Amino acid sequence: MTAQTPKERIDALTEELKEHNYKYYVLADPTISDREFDAKLEELSKLEEAYPQFRHPNSPTVVVGGGITKDFETIRHDVPMLSLGNTYSKEELQDFDTRVRKSLGDDFQYTCELKFDGFAISLKYENGELVRAVTRGDGVQGDDVTTNVRTIRAIPRHLHGDFPSNFEVRGEVFMHKKAFARLNHEREEQGLKTFANPRNSAAGTIKMQEQDEVAKRPLDCFLYHVVVNGPESGTHYDNLKKAASWGLPISDHRKLCSNFDELWDFIEYWDAHRKDLSFEIDGVVIKVNDLNQQEELGYTSKSPRWAIAYKFETETARTILNEVTYQVGRTGAVTPVANLEPVHLLGTTVKRASLHNADIMEQLQLHAGDAVFVEKGGEIIPKIVGVDTKARNEGAEVIHFIKDCPECGTPLHRNEGEAAHYCPNDSGCPPQIKGRIEHFISRKALDIDSLGEGKIAMLFDEGLISNAADLYDLQYDQLNGLSKTTVNELTGESRLISFREKTVEKILAGIESSKERPFHSVLYGLGIRYVGETVAKRLAKSFGSVENLSKASNEELENTPEIGSVIAKSVVDYFADEQNAELVNRLTMAGLHMEIEESEGPVSDILEGERIVVSGVFSRIGRNELKALIEQHGGKNVSSISAKTTFVLAGENMGPAKLEKARSLGVPIMSEDEFFERIGS
Ligand code: IVH
Repeated sequence: MTAQTPKERIDALTEELKEHNYKYYVLADPTISDREFDAKLEELSKLEEAYPQFRHPNSPTVVVGGGITKDFETIRHDVPMLSLGNTYSKEELQDFDTRVRKSLGDDFQYTCELKFDGFAISLKYENGELVRAVTRGDGVQGDDVTTNVRTIRAIPRHLHGDFPSNFEVRGEVFMHKKAFARLNHEREEQGLKTFANPRNSAAGTIKMQEQDEVAKRPLDCFLYHVVVNGPESGTHYDNLKKAASWGLPISDHRKLCSNFDELWDFIEYWDAHRKDLSFEIDGVVIKVNDLNQQEELGYTSKSPRWAIAYKFETETARTILNEVTYQVGRTGAVTPVANLEPVHLLGTTVKRASLHNADIMEQLQLHAGDAVFVEKGGEIIPKIVGVDTKARNEGAEVIHFIKDCPECGTPLHRNEGEAAHYCPNDSGCPPQIKGRIEHFISRKALDIDSLGEGKIAMLFDEGLISNAADLYDLQYDQLNGLSKTTVNELTGESRLISFREKTVEKILAGIESSKERPFHSVLYGLGIRYVGETVAKRLAKSFGSVENLSKASNEELENTPEIGSVIAKSVVDYFADEQNAELVNRLTMAGLHMEIEESEGPVSDILEGERIVVSGVFSRIGRNELKALIEQHGGKNVSSISAKTTFVLAGENMGPAKLEKARSLGVPIMSEDEFFERIGS
């Protein structure tokens, strides 16, 4: 790099940080870590201090990052939405404490809270009704995302209790780690780009134009700031307590601290325990508690002087790249995987990291035996964030993405505009065949839980099955006595699978009872690209039978609610393929439900408007059947308990956490017997 003058460096950093702000706040798709961003911002800030004549009037050091998306109405915030000063070190935090003490003396308290890693939002309530939700935007004005926010169950539309007639409250919208993993899994299955972490997925969702899709994504919210406009007495801690009593979602994980040691204890505790939370936090926020004292300390142009964010270190580990291997999924998508020398990271041993696709591999320019840095993206999936190029072995070769399928040798394909490479040999490539059968037997599809990955592999290797229809031809004598040792690729553990009498009976019984599964589950089980569970339900409802669906034209499909051109084409292509048509034919002959049944329609409206959580194991019928019953009686199945849940239908072994949550929110619990009595069955 050629040396830059201070002015050139200030110009370059300003430009670069604005670009990163745009990617982070507007596109919700950042390309550098928070830490790298903060380091650059710090460098710019120091340069501007030394050379104030070169500072840009709208420098990222004085203007809150972000921007406005053109698709939403722009709203000016009544009170600007400020950001917080950040620190990563104990010393800097002590400096903050000293500054506060200099102004206030020692007679004050801090409220310490979690720093939720999501997307900032400001909510306006008038007479207890949610009237507006606006993003932070550039801090002065943001996007009106009210319709999308109304789909978030944690955010009440109506308040109760003793709330002020008009007020604004701010917080963070986020996605739980598990919901994020599920969403990404679904996206991967549908051939869509996955989100890098829960924060991005929450931000991406809030900025979506399709409200239906937003409603399907499980967003949650914690509010942390009741906006006080003008002089007011009281404390921040009590404001949050009051807000909780009006029904607003406020986290309990906060603490009043009277001195530095107490606040440091809080930080250390949450740094160690954040992995146990169901959502991401990236630090702790420390706020002076008394509102008058907050006023006394005041604000800089960007952030309050009465609060600071302490950010946790993202743990990075350095290790050696042993090899890049490639996994072929059910859809034929090929994922490169870095096999690493085992290394410890945030309480787990990391041996593998996803490299996602060929583009990411190209960017990293990995060489054989490289020393690499691994981070946990959103603390779930480890990823390689960089290479220690100085430690590279001389003459080491660059590792390029493969050209042929590692499983069947067929040349790989890459569709225009898609990130993934595919193996086109769908009928002859073993992992694709096994993957399709595994999908077919999965819980939401044919739900044959007496079979699993290992058993499917064994039956495939024995030449007994090469597609889903073969399952229905299996005979007792073919299975009895089969045995094989399998090795788990991830753990290296080997396991002997052997089919004795009982196992064989169970397998055959499971296959037999799958014939009771409704049409939409069979349709989902076929594994048509882009046809997930919801789309399968919609297609089943609109076309009624596989026969009608297989004859449907592109146009007819596209005229169906919720079905776009991509899904339509995929369905038409599926049925145009002779092998698929033959498979569907054999499954029909085997006696699977290939049309909707009368009983799948509504039976009564006894549960109309009720939101029900099904949890535990049931004795009379399975969970899926119970859920179908709820829908047939007009009820809605919801997955997590909230204040809006009507009741929890509890079987045996309901988890203690769920039980506790239901109790604390006052949600009634109903037994299986009570439920059947209720629906008159
Ligand atoms: S207080 C004037 N409290 O972190 C008060 N912010 O890096 C400003 N955040 O802009 C915000 N958890 O988007 C506050 N408990 C918390 C928070 C929190 C997450 C976000 C918020 C803020 C950013 C600063």
